[in-house]
Amino acid sequence: MVKDISDPSLLDQILDATYPAWREGLSRQSYGSWNRALGMTAWAREHLARVGLVEGDEVLVSARRYFFDAQADGRPIKVLGIGAVFTPEHRRGQRLAPRLIEAMIDDGRARGCDVALLFSEIGADYYARLGFSSVERRRLTIEVPRNRRGAPAVLVRAAESSDLPLLSEISMLYSSGAGFAIDRPTSLIEFGVLRRRLLAGLGPSGLRSLEFLVAEEGYRAVAYVVVSRGPGGVVLEECGDRDPTGARVGAMLESLAERDPSQPDRTMHTVWPETFRPPQLQVIKIEPSPEVMMVRSISGVAPDFSRSVYWQTDVF
Ligand SMILES: CC(C)(COP(=O)(O)OP(=O)(O)OC[C@H]1O[C@@H](n2cnc3c(N)ncnc32)[C@H](O)[C@@H]1OP(=O)(O)O)[C@@H](O)C(=O)NCCC(=O)NCCS
Repeated sequence: MVKDISDPSLLDQILDATYPAWREGLSRQSYGSWNRALGMTAWAREHLARVGLVEGDEVLVSARRYFFDAQADGRPIKVLGIGAVFTPEHRRGQRLAPRLIEAMIDDGRARGCDVALLFSEIGADYYARLGFSSVERRRLTIEVPRNRRGAPAVLVRAAESSDLPLLSEISMLYSSGAGFAIDRPTSLIEFGVLRRRLLAGLGPSGLRSLEFLVAEEGYRAVAYVVVSRGPGGVVLEECGDRDPTGARVGAMLESLAERDPSQPDRTMHTVWPETFRPPQLQVIKIEPSPEVMMVRSISGVAPDFSRSVYWQTDVF
């Protein structure tokens, strides 16, 4: 039976085992701090747990379990997220991971979940054999063209906690009409940003950084961007704009680029809703996203995943 793992020595066993695979450039101590800090956030306390199959004092296989509220064409649904599936090397090949995944799905069904969602790091075939299907996810490379007139007049500042309710409201605008979109309460946006911010802060200096900025009008945040820099390049993790064209996001990215006009590379990767097209930006490449998003229906509900809105911040 699937078991929630909260015992500190079992959690340490999992961190020791997963560290070589998922260290993200952190020391073992920082890897532990990062995991523990995330577990203490408001969102994680309610929605995230480490689960596994345990025999005596040995963790045979473990995973992260997420619960998300979501919408499928405006209908509320519940999503079971499965992440960080890991079997210690000496236990591999005994079908422990499939046993855990099936147990998590049975448990999810009993708790009212409609679909299971995961991001595979080992390609699609393994999880396809467990009944998961791939969701096409298109990564854009966008460029901020040079503007001879310099930076546009837009008031950009660092986001503060007090902005989060407005940003959550803006973010939820993109769920309406989507075949599938997870709900993005303030606590989830905070969790996603903190996850990256902590990773940047705990890791080697200069390896990663994160900017979370808002554009303000009349003392209210009306648009925002989350931009990360790291080994994967520059990523527009998420953004939002009260203006349906996304023109303010375009102006924000122009003004960010103009901070360092000598920087030759003005490109970044992003996955954003199909309808979102800030007029200032050029899409220079569209390709399959490197992360493999996979889903399996649990309750029989079959959302139209081809019309998904799923920001990079929420990839787990
Ligand atoms: C993938 C993993 C969870 C499987 O766990 P397990 O308990 O050994 O489960 P199984 O017995 O079903 O695994 C054996 C199968 O995994 C496949 N597998 C293992 N690593 C794989 C990889 N990197 N890519 C593709 N398939 C892989 C094996 O080819 C084997 O396939 P088979 O069923 O055709 O023989 C385990 O190998 C693991 O922990 N790997 C490291 C962490 C990881 O990559 N996790 C997945 C994150 S999405």
